[in-house]
Amino acid sequence: MTTTHEIAPGIHRISTYVPDVGPRGFTFNQFLIEADEPLIYHTGMHALFGAVSEAVARIVPLSELRWIASGHFEADECGAMNDFLAVAPAAQVVHSTIGVLTSFGDAAARPPRALADGEELDLGGAGNAAGRRRVRHLDTPHVPHNWESRMLFETETGTLFCGDLGAQDGNPAALTSDSVVDAAMRTEELFRSSSLGPAVPATLRRLADLNPTTLAIMHGSSFHGDGAGLLRALADAYETTFPQTRAVAEPSHAA
Ligand SMILES: [Fe+2]
Ligand SMILES: [Fe+2]
Repeated sequence: MTTTHEIAPGIHRISTYVPDVGPRGFTFNQFLIEADEPLIYHTGMHALFGAVSEAVARIVPLSELRWIASGHFEADECGAMNDFLAVAPAAQVVHSTIGVLTSFGDAAARPPRALADGEELDLGGAGNAAGRRRVRHLDTPHVPHNWESRMLFETETGTLFCGDLGAQDGNPAALTSDSVVDAAMRTEELFRSSSLGPAVPATLRRLADLNPTTLAIMHGSSFHGDGAGLLRALADAYETTFPQTRAVAEPSHAA
């Protein structure tokens, strides 16, 4: 069952609920940014291509898709990238330099574009009703998992595409202004999917400094409101629940 919801102007959440994952089922959410150069963040698994591409095509002709992005190299993130490349002749996979070197350069059917930390892609669209869209690439190694992990921040709407960070199980509302911290920690304890090192809270706090107003979350509800407060609360919750994620003070080498 695939549904679509506009979580910010011109930013669409395409959600597929799969009931037999975990005790309460799990949603797989892909995000489409409408612009002159439309971008999809996560393709979903190869098996979901039919449902996801149909939902995308209701908003943007598949042949106009320009960028195929994902957080890291995993089937739910990019399993259908070559299916999208096949139907969108102008489309190109875009990822981090590390991601292109380690996986995407080999696995993508056409050469991907590699971005450096902080580099921006102007998606255009100034003449569209929703306005111009621009995404900033952020390296987030090992957060939530994988060396090549990265996120995107859409600067015009303040939307952070945070992938598996803040994931909640079940099939909650498409968009909420309530905190998702408790549900996200319950899901972390259930699946243990994050790399539980100090990079997690440190990265959450770095992302909070962007002051996002919408968090586009890959599994569960997206969030609208004080994104910085939510990310900092999530960082605190990781440190409390998993003490190994607390930063270790540098040892003193003083004689
Ligand atoms: Fe993942
Ligand atoms: Fe995921």
